[in-house]
Amino acid sequence: MTAVRAAAADVDWEKLRSVARDAMSRAYAPYSGYPVGVAALVDDGRIVSGCNVENASYGLGLCAECGLVSALQNSGGGRLTHFTCVDGKGDILVPCGRCRQLLHEFGGPDLLLETPAGILPLSEMLPQAFGPDHLTK
Ligand code: THU
Repeated sequence: MTAVRAAAADVDWEKLRSVARDAMSRAYAPYSGYPVGVAALVDDGRIVSGCNVENASYGLGLCAECGLVSALQNSGGGRLTHFTCVDGKGDILVPCGRCRQLLHEFGGPDLLLETPAGILPLSEMLPQAFGPDHLTK
């Protein structure tokens, strides 16, 4: 078994998806009509979640991942280890490019993402990522 498969097998993805769906049900997406919910496991066992929150000034809308990283930091910090994202039907969705960068900050390249193509490390969804290490080189 590969390291990714072993780490992925340890986790109750169905539970994580159900937390993401619950968050999605609280999305504020009157402009796009496209609610999104996300949930992630933290390295201390916590689960954090988020939903998208749009704005009449369209460009100011916040992706669900913005809420998730805010919830992470505001509930004690830590590292994200496993992440899932769902659309308005509750189906697995890939995080947008900007949000992959947000996830990289708090989960790094080994963060496992549930995607329509299976469980993948963030390093495969955001190759050659720019991150905090670049700033100290
Ligand atoms: N959206 C997210 O919340 N996360 C993503 O990773 C993809 C897109 C939201 C932004 C916007 O409110 C709606 O989905 C349509 O783009």
